[in-house]
Amino acid sequence: MTASLPATVLPPAAPQSLLTLPALPSTHVTVRGLSKAFAGKPLYTDFNLDLPRGQIVSIFGPNGCGKSTLMNMIAGLVKPDAGEILFDGKTLRDTGIGYVFQNYRDALFPWISAWDNIAYPLRRKGLKEPAVKARVDELVALFEIRFDLARYPYELSGGQMQTVCIMRSLATRPEVLFLDEPFSALDFEMTLFIRDKLQEAHLATGVTMVIVSHDLEDAVFLADQVLLLTRRPTRIAEIVPFGLPRPRRAEAVADPEFVRVKAHTLEVFRREVNA
Ligand SMILES: Nc1ncnc2c1ncn2[C@@H]1O[C@H](COP(=O)(O)OP(=O)(O)O)[C@@H](O)[C@H]1O
Ligand SMILES: [Mg+2]
Repeated sequence: MTASLPATVLPPAAPQSLLTLPALPSTHVTVRGLSKAFAGKPLYTDFNLDLPRGQIVSIFGPNGCGKSTLMNMIAGLVKPDAGEILFDGKTLRDTGIGYVFQNYRDALFPWISAWDNIAYPLRRKGLKEPAVKARVDELVALFEIRFDLARYPYELSGGQMQTVCIMRSLATRPEVLFLDEPFSALDFEMTLFIRDKLQEAHLATGVTMVIVSHDLEDAVFLADQVLLLTRRPTRIAEIVPFGLPRPRRAEAVADPEFVRVKAHTLEVFRREVNA
């Protein structure tokens, strides 16, 4: 590749070790001084977090530690008592986000077709029909949809419904995609399918993704980083990087690096639950 470039645009010579280092991701979302209490009991106090751009971060921790609340505060669905959340220095108001809810059955509009569900946010934004169709067609190609999108949600399987939810969430090209337990209502086969689709969508769009999961395997499988939370009052127990190359296929769960990261994550989790 570089042979065809003029000499002036060739990068300066660097030691081999520097050339082979992956570029450090920049920060996309900053959470500063976040506090939240429910019924007078603190959940988060002066909580800080950086989310890296274009990466997948899984949030994992004990039941009730505040995984969903943290994600929902970042996504603007739950109001923090104090603190600041910025996206590239911008507020949520100036940022495009997508959200995939845990319960896909309740998340889709039952009175319109799957196709119209996906088109909904585009039409809401005021796009003209040809542009709406072009974008839905792109998503259909990206997700390699083989089922009939003219069908209504109740006519689809759970995995198909969740696929439609994910397509809808990506329709307006969000900067950040939030997913709360996207696999928890799916059978194993569909979990594998949705894992594949999420990875493909991530590779194709570079969207920053935040996934809450109560399943350790799901949490590690897709993650560039696993954000491990403590019990309440909730702090960061550890941020565990996981660098297995993508796309990760189902067999990746037997990869020694996957096994190592999962075991380490489990150890931290056990320590926190028993703390
Ligand atoms: N709207 C609410 N009102 C009162 N308590 C809440 C509310 N939302 C969450 N909580 C409490 O905050 C804690 C964290 O909840 P949540 O974020 O849903 O945990 P997780 O997703 O980690 O299981 C739990 O103890 C939960 O009962
Ligand atoms: Mg939750």
